[in-house]
Amino acid sequence: MHTNTYETDIVAELQLHRHQPLSEDRQGEALDLEIAPPAIFNGKYYYIESYGCQMNFSDSEIVAAILQAEGYGITRNCEEADLVLLNTCAIREKAEDRIRARLRNLNNLKKQRPDMLIGLLGCMAERLKKNLLEQERIVDIVVGPDAYRDLPKLALEASGGQKAVNVLLSREETYADISPIRLDANGVTAFISIMRGCDNMCSFCVVPFTRGRERSRNAFSIVAEAQDLVARGYKEVTLLGQNVDSYKWQNPETEQTVTFAQLLEMIALLSPDLRVRFSTSHPKDITDDVLYTMAKYDNVCNYIHLPVQAGSSEVLKRMNRTYDRAWYLEKIAAIRRILPNCAISTDVIAGFCGETEAEHAETLSIMEAVKYEMAYMFAYSERPGTLAARRYPDDVPPEVKNRRLQEIIALQNEHSLLRNQADLGKVFRILAEKPSKRSDEDLCGRTDQNKMVIFPRGNHQPGDYVNVLIESCTLASMKGRVV
Ligand code: SAH
Ligand code: SF4
Ligand code: F3S
Repeated sequence: MHTNTYETDIVAELQLHRHQPLSEDRQGEALDLEIAPPAIFNGKYYYIESYGCQMNFSDSEIVAAILQAEGYGITRNCEEADLVLLNTCAIREKAEDRIRARLRNLNNLKKQRPDMLIGLLGCMAERLKKNLLEQERIVDIVVGPDAYRDLPKLALEASGGQKAVNVLLSREETYADISPIRLDANGVTAFISIMRGCDNMCSFCVVPFTRGRERSRNAFSIVAEAQDLVARGYKEVTLLGQNVDSYKWQNPETEQTVTFAQLLEMIALLSPDLRVRFSTSHPKDITDDVLYTMAKYDNVCNYIHLPVQAGSSEVLKRMNRTYDRAWYLEKIAAIRRILPNCAISTDVIAGFCGETEAEHAETLSIMEAVKYEMAYMFAYSERPGTLAARRYPDDVPPEVKNRRLQEIIALQNEHSLLRNQADLGKVFRILAEKPSKRSDEDLCGRTDQNKMVIFPRGNHQPGDYVNVLIESCTLASMKGRVV
């Protein structure tokens, strides 16, 4: 379920229960769905599995729309597919290891069905380019994140025995005109991609190399997509980008620019019944404007994912995060001041290059200072080509990384429990999303603060807003009853 050597089941548990946009909580899932068949069926079926962050899950919905327009039908059984696609992640070594294992598995299947084409999409495709096709010969098609429009053509070429690769990155592509096919349709919540790429150069991170330059999508196309979702009965949208606070789109006709705060407002105004979330915020770019917009609209959820990565200013400098500990804590103070009920979650990396015991202690102390509702916690994994790989040795021994990560996890577990316990006896407005995993008699849905709550279904349906009194909790979830 998870992608790091040192991560434990506890983290995986947490990630499963707390549905957080730019996370990895549904790795490789082939989703249950009912999707209308293509207008003119070309006789071929595709199957798609997604790995990595929500951007990838969102991209898979664009890929589905592109293939559907070419007449492909979707199947949830890879054994009957003509085209098997893996939309891949390269963020840590473990993420790529999992995909390699899956590819070996698919190549066994291909021995029985030589006509089947295996396509690698996404960040690992972009990072390894032709390697898996030419040297290892374990895929037939390789397509990077900006080249999905080319996929039908490449599939045709590959079926004629040609090498089919397109890993060109683009400065313009945002797929703004493509209406995604909702693969993970619960009919209630959906993701909308508002930008692509990343212009930050965090030294540990492969994303700028796999996703290219940052570009913002046409604001009107975003509003139109949200509007369409509202018309179809959806109740929540999550606006996605690696760094949403640097969203900026200029209207070519009026030359007016739309900032993230303005975009947020445009979406919030569509319907008071539509919840609006977003991810990810960057501590260097999040503005008070965004916080005031969140405060102004009840339907913009009180939840911010603000990755800290490390608590020591020295480590942050080596990470090239461009903020220090004091700056980060000031942002937290601004959030608490403007949005007193806002939940805050984070990402933490343990054992980055050169991290000393004292620097690690600063990560624990910043966690103590903020007491995050939730965190994604990782051991540093060196990625070839990144600034850190070129500049700093990966010198924290694995067992030390692991111990530090365990300390971080243990502390976060305390805080998650504490934060959940603080909600006991309170009533929250929950948007019911789906039946709970354990029982069809129960529904689950999230609070405004993004905490998952399980409650007896009664007469309620997914999509209903219900008031739930919290009666019990663990560190990963809360239970209650409708009042
Ligand atoms: N754009 C987001 C993060 C995207 S990647 C942001 O800037 O916050 C998600 C998380 O993966 C990062 O926040 C970081 O904590 C983790 N991560 C990225 N590269 C990593 C690496 N090389 N090793 C370990 N964790 C990494
Ligand atoms: Fe990676 Fe940093 Fe960009 Fe996030 S902001 S995607 S961590 S480079
Ligand atoms: Fe996302 Fe993984 Fe790419 S986290 S942006 S799919 S490297």
